[in-house]
Amino acid sequence: MNNWQTLERHSHAPYSGIPKACIVESNSGKFYTGVRIENISFPLTISSIQAACCICLSEGETPAVLYLKNSEYEQVNTWAAEFDMEVAVTDDISSIKSESLLKLSEKLDIEQKLKALLDQAVIPNSDFPVSALLFTDKGFFEGVNVEISEWSQGLCAERIALAKAVAAGFHTFSTIDIHTRSGEFSSPCGACRQVLLEHLPYHTVRLHHADGSLSEHLTVDLLPFSFKSTSLNK
Ligand code: THU
Repeated sequence: MNNWQTLERHSHAPYSGIPKACIVESNSGKFYTGVRIENISFPLTISSIQAACCICLSEGETPAVLYLKNSEYEQVNTWAAEFDMEVAVTDDISSIKSESLLKLSEKLDIEQKLKALLDQAVIPNSDFPVSALLFTDKGFFEGVNVEISEWSQGLCAERIALAKAVAAGFHTFSTIDIHTRSGEFSSPCGACRQVLLEHLPYHTVRLHHADGSLSEHLTVDLLPFSFKSTSLNK
């Protein structure tokens, strides 16, 4: 059963100290939770509404209703207009059951899953699908890239997987697998490297390249001399 306090507790807000959570209902009646995920590099912060809308789209669904705790969220009107969403401010979300997006790893063929997932990418602008699998000790979360009409507000596959996991209450991860089927090699963008550094700093990033080869890296090696949260001594 949902309540705002529990959902907000999942939010990653170490810098502002102001956690946020919201729920998006799709036009087929499914519910997707989004939580705010701050980053030491502030423009990379994922808002709860951005997370919930992009997660909903990544699941092949269309946002229809946005449930908020109060009126103190950023860019509500912009997001509502993007999908023609109804906005409902409510204290009581106890009757809402969000989708469980955690998948079990048993019998998982990582290569096959990454390839199949590419078809779920929402890529009207780039036509460049990316897939990601983020592993926890309980299973994994899938991610595909999502583009919306405002280019800067879409989310990469890696961050969709992270947004799902954090909203579900996971804060420790083991590895992440990333795949693209075109390009010289599969490679997380600079922004994703910065975000991964905050959540999987000394963890393995497995890159499944278009030619079928695989390379493994530690996140810290993908972003040398980085600005990280420990730089603040917080
Ligand atoms: N993209 C990802 O999903 N992950 C990356 O690390 C690289 C870029 C997506 C974002 C956008 O939809 C498209 O690829 C082109 O930038």
